[in-house]
Amino acid sequence: MRPEHPVALITGASWGIGEATAKILAESGFYLLLGARTVEKVTALADELQSKHGIKAIGTALDVRDPESVNAFVELAKSEFGAVHVLVNNAGLAKGTACLEDATDDQWEQMISTNINGVLYMTRACIPLIKAAGWGHIFFLGSVAGHGVYKGGSVYCGTKYFVRAVSETLRFELLGEPIRVTSVDPGMVETQFSVVRLDSKEKADAVYRGMQPLVAEDIAECIRWAVDLPDHVNIDQIIIRPRDQAGFQKVQR
Ligand SMILES: NC(=O)c1ccc[n+]([C@@H]2O[C@H](COP(=O)([O-])OP(=O)(O)OC[C@H]3O[C@@H](n4cnc5c(N)ncnc54)[C@H](OP(=O)(O)O)[C@@H]3O)[C@@H](O)[C@H]2O)c1
Repeated sequence: MRPEHPVALITGASWGIGEATAKILAESGFYLLLGARTVEKVTALADELQSKHGIKAIGTALDVRDPESVNAFVELAKSEFGAVHVLVNNAGLAKGTACLEDATDDQWEQMISTNINGVLYMTRACIPLIKAAGWGHIFFLGSVAGHGVYKGGSVYCGTKYFVRAVSETLRFELLGEPIRVTSVDPGMVETQFSVVRLDSKEKADAVYRGMQPLVAEDIAECIRWAVDLPDHVNIDQIIIRPRDQAGFQKVQR
């Protein structure tokens, strides 16, 4: 049964979708452990949510690429909250838009280590605790890039196909456990994502010019909806796009 204050771990809560998810779950009474590399952002957010909603919230340094950092994060959840109920595997990034023959090792390394290794380390570390808690939900931030490819997207798309495969596999592996598994797979959401990908605020602004992208709160709302449904209902996958986006190269401006 869902406890009065479920404990949610959110990776990449310093900006964008992770930050918005922290805010929306805090409104619903969740206790929160928020992680990111920009530690001052997550500690400030945790303090703000704690005083605004009367919940317990902690922000701490987390690098999902580093298994020691991941294990320390999960240990902190255990010692401070005594349980883990919900994991939001949100931390992720794209780097560059170069075709495969021109892309750099560093771009690949960043995407693979964050979007693949990070998700694996974090999920493996949390599963025993979620099982022990007796009620839980694991979320993945996939993407429409896990459902179709585009020029210049081979490795980013590959990482999101991977996330989709892991979330689908977990539904087999956790069958019989009181744990739900949901992948939320957005199209264009205006966050820091394109600034990080393109290394330029100006180029990122151009991505969304003349169209109305989703905002981080739209995605957070999907997470709240899926976790608030009755326990027997599992939303496998949510594909969500702006009305102005029919496909990767098909945007109404
Ligand atoms: N925005 C979109 O259009 C879109 C569409 C589909 C899917 N997504 C997915 O949604 C997720 C969130 O993206 P967003 O749009 O919210 O982007 P964002 O605004 O750039 O936020 C990404 C978050 O991930 C964190 N992060 C990155 N590397 C990390 C690491 N090694 N360890 C811990 N945290 C790390 C960042 O924090 P620090 O830099 O402080 O560590 C930041 O908080 C990603 O998985 C992304 O692939 C986004």
